[in-house]
Amino acid sequence: MSSVLLLPGDGIGPEIMAEAAKVLDRVDQLFGLDLQIDHGLVGGAAIDAHGTPLPDDTMAKAHAADAILLGAVGGPKWDAIEAGKRPENGLLGLRSGLQLFANLRPAILYPQLAAASSLKPEIVSGLDILIVRELTGGIYFGKPRGVHVNEAGDREGFNTYRYSEPEIRRIAAVAFEAARKRSGRLCSVDKANVLEVTRLWREIVTSMAADYPDVELSHMYVDNAAMQLVRAPKQFDVIVTGNMFGDILSDEAAMLTGSIGMLPSASLDANNKGMYEPCHGSAPDIAGRGVANPLATILSAALMLRYSLRSEAALKAADAIERAVGTVLDQGLRTADIAEVPGQSVSTARMGEAVVAALALDE
Ligand code: NAI
Ligand code: MG
Repeated sequence: MSSVLLLPGDGIGPEIMAEAAKVLDRVDQLFGLDLQIDHGLVGGAAIDAHGTPLPDDTMAKAHAADAILLGAVGGPKWDAIEAGKRPENGLLGLRSGLQLFANLRPAILYPQLAAASSLKPEIVSGLDILIVRELTGGIYFGKPRGVHVNEAGDREGFNTYRYSEPEIRRIAAVAFEAARKRSGRLCSVDKANVLEVTRLWREIVTSMAADYPDVELSHMYVDNAAMQLVRAPKQFDVIVTGNMFGDILSDEAAMLTGSIGMLPSASLDANNKGMYEPCHGSAPDIAGRGVANPLATILSAALMLRYSLRSEAALKAADAIERAVGTVLDQGLRTADIAEVPGQSVSTARMGEAVVAALALDE
């Protein structure tokens, strides 16, 4: 038995989660996964019901679950709320509370959607890269931080960029392991020419390479990596980097595929427990209309089966979900965000049901 917590969130979250839940139910039946599925509130939905983006009940369920599938949170409805109590704080609280330090973001260009990329086909066709981003440290969390008045009497903002050796080692290990299972190429991205913290990062990652003789390690400065991602993205396989650089580069990589509605992500702790969510946000501009693309959430469910549930049946189910997504794209089904012809698109529910139907065909 594996326990899975579904946290739809707000905005389009409940719409896309409904489809992912149908897919999970279907693979549960088809592959005998014995899933025990629970539900909880997070983000704006939790604020509306309980006045807090991460209720204790949700956190307790998250601790108890083997894995968590999250929709999305955030939106203008909660903009007036003070910093620290907004929907996004629900997400940050889950990430830090569960020690989800490794964020895995694949950027895959589906051949059926090649036209969606802003890059020339010869540069992006077949793109399949994985960005491993450190998620619980670095400048987003370093202390001291704040805004004060300095000695000259001017207001001054400051943050601290800090990584300890154990933090660097554990994220690098995840990346080396991932590279080993893929093409065997790992590029560590830093700013070692300017920042001491990333000079230490480079030194430690380099020393770890001896334990992974089958992985070919390279290093790149982050500014060059940003250029190379748009110049020749297929030179990369796995990229590992710190929290802020990873935030920026993973969004850049996502855009190479042109379809943020297609991209899943995984955030893992040291014991393969994880939270899985689409890369996109709560899309308040289209929420409630039944037009959002559920595939990023459905593909996140596949990652959950692969990285957290991990049984032989779960791995088969993960492969089957990914194949079913390919099948529905082959069938020409498109939600509005990936439609080549405006107006020729299917609803969120129709897309989800097509994936469920494709799973059965595959059997
Ligand atoms: P967004 O990803 O929500 O939307 C950007 C654009 O992509 C919008 O035009 C939206 O309609 C479209 N889009 C996103 N997902 C889609 C889908 N599945 N199908 C079709 N179209 C889709 O980013 P935005 O607008 O910057 O942020 C909106 C809210 O979401 C903010 O409150 C932000 O803080 C929050 N957010 C939450 C995240 C999360 O829950 N992990 C991640 C990013 C943003
Ligand atoms: Mg981002």
